[in-house]
Amino acid sequence: MKSEAEFNFSMPVERRHTASMKWDRYKDRDIIPLWVADMDFCSPPAIIEALHQRVAHGVFGYTHPPESLNAVVVETLQADYGWTIQPQWLVWLPGLVTGLNVACRAVGRDDDDVMTAVPIYPPFLTAPANSRRQIIKVPLQETDNCWRFDFERLERAITTRTRLFLLCNPHNPVGRVFTRDELSALAAISEKHDIIICSDEIHCGLLLDDDKTHLPTATLGPEVAQRTITLMSPSKTFNLPGLGCAFAVISDEKLRRQFIKASSGIVPLVNALGFAAAEAAYRDCADWHLQLLEYLRGNHKTLVRAIADMPPLTMAPLEATYLAWIDVRSAGLPNPVRFFEDAGVGLQDGIEFDGPGFVRLNFGCSRSLLVEALERMKSAMDKHVASK
Ligand SMILES: Cc1ncc(COP(=O)(O)O)c(C=O)c1O
Repeated sequence: MKSEAEFNFSMPVERRHTASMKWDRYKDRDIIPLWVADMDFCSPPAIIEALHQRVAHGVFGYTHPPESLNAVVVETLQADYGWTIQPQWLVWLPGLVTGLNVACRAVGRDDDDVMTAVPIYPPFLTAPANSRRQIIKVPLQETDNCWRFDFERLERAITTRTRLFLLCNPHNPVGRVFTRDELSALAAISEKHDIIICSDEIHCGLLLDDDKTHLPTATLGPEVAQRTITLMSPSKTFNLPGLGCAFAVISDEKLRRQFIKASSGIVPLVNALGFAAAEAAYRDCADWHLQLLEYLRGNHKTLVRAIADMPPLTMAPLEATYLAWIDVRSAGLPNPVRFFEDAGVGLQDGIEFDGPGFVRLNFGCSRSLLVEALERMKSAMDKHVASK
């Protein structure tokens, strides 16, 4: 196995002047950007090599999903989750947000209801209305430092027009990896009320807690698989979101046809480089992936310790993702994002996730940058607390 030093997650990579969305937000200001969900790390060398080879060919015509890519996805889902899928169940997409929007169009009719649990990644909140659906939002509950579904409340909120549940697992922003019991309870409610589950599992390769395993919703059983649209991508784990390559797994033929019909004419093909990168990611990057997780676990530890030393801020430890959900409600900050920007750190406002009073911090960066950001936050919080 290559050493961490060889992959060099610690070495900051200059991302200014690369039209990086994350870094351009504060390009003329001394603000460390810890917001949008990409990492500051180079992708694995095997992916970069695969891209070089594809570029060297020099012809970039319309490209369908390579059979070899379908094959490696089938192998990976089998190896990682014991999930046996057929290649024809795969529908390739230029992104998961596209998948969420297509799912809303594909299931039910205009004015039907789409349910989700909040806080949640913002495109979950906008996808229903984009497709003329109403959104029903049910709050997740935080008890004993852990975020959970409130199944009673969730079931009470279901209407006769609720057709679709948008699930995020592992969860952005609260970082939960839902258990078999939790997913089974959700699946049972969905079956009882004839609701399709769109299960966004984009963060499934980013488990921080060694005791947890990711369970794809569709593996709970054949009845659950039949009513599930699973969305996955190598983009978060291998840091490829700028290459636009994702897929849906839909075992039920009728549901798959509906999904493909809803995307026809508006969803472009995945680009040739996205396919090349995805194939290398699933085939050749296991060592890099292990090393990444080790590094992110180190960052997570650093972060948890730092937040514990920044009263009155709190956070529940994360089971997955490189996105922390920090509770700033007791700090009495009229505008938390502005406060931390003034301190030199760019975070994301919980309001965007339907979670006011929280900020989201992306720790997918070199430890030195994270430590510097945390020092800036601590110094500002200490001053703020002392001034009260
Ligand atoms: C839960 C979730 N789904 C989807 C996405 C974005 O997916 P894509 O870039 O493939 O549209 C993100 C990015 O942060 C995410 O956290």
